[in-house]
Amino acid sequence: MKPYQIADNVYSVGVIDWNIRDFHGYTVPNGTSYNAFLILDEKTVLIDTVKKQFTSEFLDNISEIIDPKKIDIVVSNHTEMDHSGALPHVMAKIGADKPLYCSKMGKKNLHLHFKQNWNFKEVENYGELNIGKKNLTFLETRMIHWPDSMFTYLKEDGILFSSDGFGQHYAGLEKYVDKSSDDIFEYAKKYFANILLLYSPKIKKLILNISDLNLNIKTICPDHGLLWRKNPEKIIEAYIKWCDQIPEKKAVIIYDTMWNSTKIIAEKIAEGIAEAGVAVKPLKLRKTHRSDIIAELFDAKAVIVGSPTMNNNMFPTVADILTYIKGLKPQNKIGAAFGSYGWSGEAVKQITAELQSIGIEPIDEGLRLLYIPDAEGENRAFEYGKKIGEAVKSA
Ligand code: FEO
Repeated sequence: MKPYQIADNVYSVGVIDWNIRDFHGYTVPNGTSYNAFLILDEKTVLIDTVKKQFTSEFLDNISEIIDPKKIDIVVSNHTEMDHSGALPHVMAKIGADKPLYCSKMGKKNLHLHFKQNWNFKEVENYGELNIGKKNLTFLETRMIHWPDSMFTYLKEDGILFSSDGFGQHYAGLEKYVDKSSDDIFEYAKKYFANILLLYSPKIKKLILNISDLNLNIKTICPDHGLLWRKNPEKIIEAYIKWCDQIPEKKAVIIYDTMWNSTKIIAEKIAEGIAEAGVAVKPLKLRKTHRSDIIAELFDAKAVIVGSPTMNNNMFPTVADILTYIKGLKPQNKIGAAFGSYGWSGEAVKQITAELQSIGIEPIDEGLRLLYIPDAEGENRAFEYGKKIGEAVKSA
């Protein structure tokens, strides 16, 4: 993407990764971008870089605005390599002695990644830097997304460079969220659910702290996806809501199946939940990627997990999704387990125990049905769905 102007002497110089579909295990069906920004003032400032493989395109973008050697200052808001991969080449090009502003953890992590003794300038939370007519303020935002993460605020233009915060894995030429016909909030929600969910309490505190500063934020520039220009407070409000994890009256059924018996149970449970007046979505694990499942269960009250018993264990894909859910620490949910079995039938008990260890409170010991559900079995599954639906409504 060609660089473009965001404000007077402020440019977006990042790149679009149109072809990526798997971002460290997270599906990105619409690609993503690695945004970086250039501010021209008495000092020329580069904020963040891009993934290593895009270094050449990135430097070409900068060159359309200014000779890269004229960059005086680099700011690294976040160490992860989608934003720092090009940094060694950029520093070599502009002069390795140029000051590199980052958080204390940023200095440590950049050194651990690249083993370079760059001219690091550690910044304090709320630390300021005059670059001529304009001023930068650094805001420590640990765990949005790593311990090194920070935001940089450009006071005179009201621009918040927010690194991973408020980002979306979305590739597009629209530049701004308000220019897109896609619902970018859905992309931002999937991003939050998969990348930031486990840090929700910390993130809420950080965002409220930033809100208390009464900054005049006109544009939010994340390092992924489109920029928030029209009503940027809407995505800030959405983040606060997402951090609270107040679920909707909705159930998600996650299951896998061997000979379709567990599938039959899943669908009958879904009918029962719907009969109780609760929205429900059954998702078969080998048809739905775990990152899409998290986006669905993120705002659901009930997580219902189904598995056949295979080799005295839950099905491997079920163990996979439970591990993934556990890491993201969702709050305020109830759960239930179900499955078909042939002889030993351990899976339901195992899932129930795992839900408990995740902090998803099971409504009971679960539903097990022998081999292929007959009419009576199907009815039991339907009634079990109604029970789950009632539990969702009364929770
Ligand atoms: Fe986009 Fe945490 O890196």
